[in-house]
This record gives sequence, C-alpha cells and structure tokens, in this order.
Amino acid sequence: ALHHHFRSILQSVPDAMVVINDAGIVTAVSKAAETLFGYEADQLLGRNVSILMSPTDKSQHDGYISRYLRTGERQIIGIGRTVTARRADGTLFPIDLKIGEAKIGDHYLFTAFMRDLTEQRRNETRMKALQ
Ligand code: HEM
Repeated sequence: ALHHHFRSILQSVPDAMVVINDAGIVTAVSKAAETLFGYEADQLLGRNVSILMSPTDKSQHDGYISRYLRTGERQIIGIGRTVTARRADGTLFPIDLKIGEAKIGDHYLFTAFMRDLTEQRRNETRMKALQ
C-alpha cells in the first residue's frame, strides 16, 4: 500500500523526521529519528508522539494538537521552536523542532524535522566561559 512506500522513503531521509496523524499517533519515522531518540521504528509506530517528550509537555501535547485543530492558530507550524526532547533512556536534550502539515481528505498529517542542539549548546557555554 501507499503508506509502505512512504515509510520506506522516510527510512532514507538523512534528517530526524517523525510523522503523526491528527490524534498524535506516530505513523512513520526516519532512520535518523530512530538513532536520535534511541528507539527502533517498531517501538514508536502506533504510539503517541508524547513518548519523545519531557513529562511537562507529555501530558499536554494531545491538548496542543486539538487546540490547533479547533482554532487553526499556529504556535510552532511554520515558525519552529527550541524544545526539550526525551530519549529512550530518559535523558533530556534540546532540539530545534520544525513542523509541517498536510491535509489528506478530512484528516491532517503532521511532519516534524528535529535537529539535536546539544553540541551547539555546549559550544555556546564554552564561548561564554572564554569571554
Ligand atoms: C504543538 C512540544 C514534537 C506536532 C506543540 C506545542 C508544544 C509542543 C509546547 C504547543 C505550542 C504552543 O501552544 O505554544 C513538543 C515537544 C516535542 C514535540 C517538546 C518533542 C519531541 C512534536 C512532533 C510533532 C508535533 C514530533 C509532529 C510530528 C505538534 C502539532 C502542534 C504541536 C501539530 C500544534 C500546532 C502548533 O502549535 O503550531 N508541541 N512537540 N510535535 N506539536 Fe509538538
């Protein structure tokens, strides 16, 4: 089926990418996303995307999505934001999060690109120490 092709294409995307449906359920992940978060694709597919977050955002993320679907007001889509993400081993780390959307029939798909900011943060701290 189409979504199998879609999933295998995503496997080759060099960036960490996660696709969810409008209920926040993960429908596809790139290989780079598996590596970044320390999960196998099978452990993420079918789970709520909030598994990738700190406890603070985790409990609220369904609400963020439903608020967006209700109001159409974008807080991150098309804007981007630095947020805290959570690896499988529980460690928290900063990421640059970019979200796009696609409407398929009466449903939405959301696609996220995530970039690890750990190294950048470390360099900023070093620079500050030198000033
Ligand atoms: C909204 C956090 C990952 C899809 C939000 C908001 C926060 C947030 C704080 C609400 C912004 C606001 O109302 O001010 C996070 C964190 C993530 C994460 C910490 C860590 C991994 C994702 C991923 C997707 C996603 C991977 C999609 C694949 C959405 C959508 C919205 C949203 C659709 C609502 C649209 C918008 O506000 O523009 N997220 N998110 N999020 N997030 Fe996430």
